Amino acid sequence: MKIILGISGSIAAYKAAYLVRLWIKQGHEVQVLMTESAKAFISPLTLSTLSKRPVFSEVVSEESWNNHVELGLWADAMVIAPASANTLAKIANGLCDNILSAVFLSARCPVFVAPAMDLDMWKHPATRNNIARLQEFGVQIIPVGHGELASGLVGDGRMAEPEEIAAFLAQKIQSKGALSGKKALVTAGPTYEALDPVRFIGNHSTGKMGIAIAEALAAQGASVTLVLGPTELRPSHPAITVVPVVSAADMHHACEQVFHHADIAVMAAAVADYKPRQVSETKIKKNNSEMTLDLEKTVDIAATLGKSKRPEQIFVGFALETDNEENHALTKLAKKNFDFIVLNSMRSPGAGFGHDTNQVTILRKNGAHTDYPLKSKTSVAEDIVHEICSIANPNGL
Ligand code: CTP
Repeated sequence: MKIILGISGSIAAYKAAYLVRLWIKQGHEVQVLMTESAKAFISPLTLSTLSKRPVFSEVVSEESWNNHVELGLWADAMVIAPASANTLAKIANGLCDNILSAVFLSARCPVFVAPAMDLDMWKHPATRNNIARLQEFGVQIIPVGHGELASGLVGDGRMAEPEEIAAFLAQKIQSKGALSGKKALVTAGPTYEALDPVRFIGNHSTGKMGIAIAEALAAQGASVTLVLGPTELRPSHPAITVVPVVSAADMHHACEQVFHHADIAVMAAAVADYKPRQVSETKIKKNNSEMTLDLEKTVDIAATLGKSKRPEQIFVGFALETDNEENHALTKLAKKNFDFIVLNSMRSPGAGFGHDTNQVTILRKNGAHTDYPLKSKTSVAEDIVHEICSIANPNGL
C-alpha cells in the first residue's frame, strides 16, 4: 500500500520514526510530509533514511515544486500522526498553508488522524468541534491514549502507539469480506540456495501468482502473512505483512512461526528441492577440471506443515507438471495433505513463470476437478480464493 504520513509539530513526532520503520517492514511504500514545526522534534534525515524517500516539507522549495495534487492521488491512505491541535484546526477549516494541509485537501484516499496534544487542548471545545467536523468529512480519528503527557499532566491526549496506528489502519481497510477475521499464510517466489557468497541455485519464479493470491485473500478480508522468496515484486494491500526470505530453510522457519495460527495456508512458492551440501565461505575458484556439485534435499515445507494440519485449516498447494499432469498432482495432493491442489500447466503458452497469465486446473480431495481457461494471474487468484471461500463458508456463497 502507498501511505502518506503527515507529521506535525508535537513531541510525539519522534514516534513517527517507529511508525515508518514498521510500515516499511510490512512492505508498504511511505511518503513522509512534515510541517516546519515538526522538524524541531525529529530530523527529516531520520525519516528519509527510514522511508527510503526524500521527505517533503514545502509546497515550493528552491529545487522543486512538490505536486500536492499528484501526491494526493498517489496514496492509498493518508495518516496524519501526530496531528497537533493547530494542524487539526487547519485541516478542519480547509486552510492550506503548508504541504501537509495542501495534500489533505487533494487526497482522494481514506484519511486517518492520530491526535497528540495536552489534556486541556484536547478537551477544549474548539478541538472537539474540529474533531467533529473532520469526522463529518469522513476522516477517521485514531483514539488518543490516556497517561502521563509531556507536560507532566495525566489524562487523555497522548498519541496512539505506532503499533496501534498500523493495526487501526489495517483493520479499517479490512473489515469487510467473506474471509474477514481469518488469518492466512501464503508462500511465494523462488528460493535461492547458496553455493558460495556470490552464487546460488534458484529458479525463474517471480512470485506474481503467490502475490496475487495474497492480494485476493486480503481483498476478502483476511489478514495475510506472505512469506516471500527473493523477488523485486511486493504486494500493495495493507493487510499483507511480507516476511522476506532467501532459502528453503528460511522459508520453512518463517512458515513454522505462522502456520499454527493460520486458518488458511496457500503454498505457491517454487521451493528448490535440492541445495548444496556445503556452502563455501569464500568464492569458489575455477580450475582446469570439471566440477560436480554435491546436493542434498531441502525440507519439503508443504509436506511438513501438512503433517500438523488441523482439520479446520484450509491447506492449498500447487503442482507444476510437464507430463502425466493430473496423476502427479493427485499424488502430491494426498502426500502433502492439501484440501485442493492447483495444477499449473507448462504446456499452454502464456502460463507459468514470469507471465501475467496462467492456466490452471483445481483438483479436489474427492477427485472432482475444474479446468479454467487462460486468464490473468489476478483472475486465477480470485478463482482460487473463491474455492477457499466455498470451503470456509460452505453455505455462504
Ligand atoms: N513445496 C514445498 N516445499 C518444497 C517443495 C515443494 O512447500 N521443498 C510445495 C510447493 O509450494 C507446492 C507443492 O509443494 O505447493 C508442490 O511443489 P512441486 O515443486 O510441484 O512438487 P515437489 O514435491 O517438489 O515434486 P517434484 O518437484 O518432484 O515434481
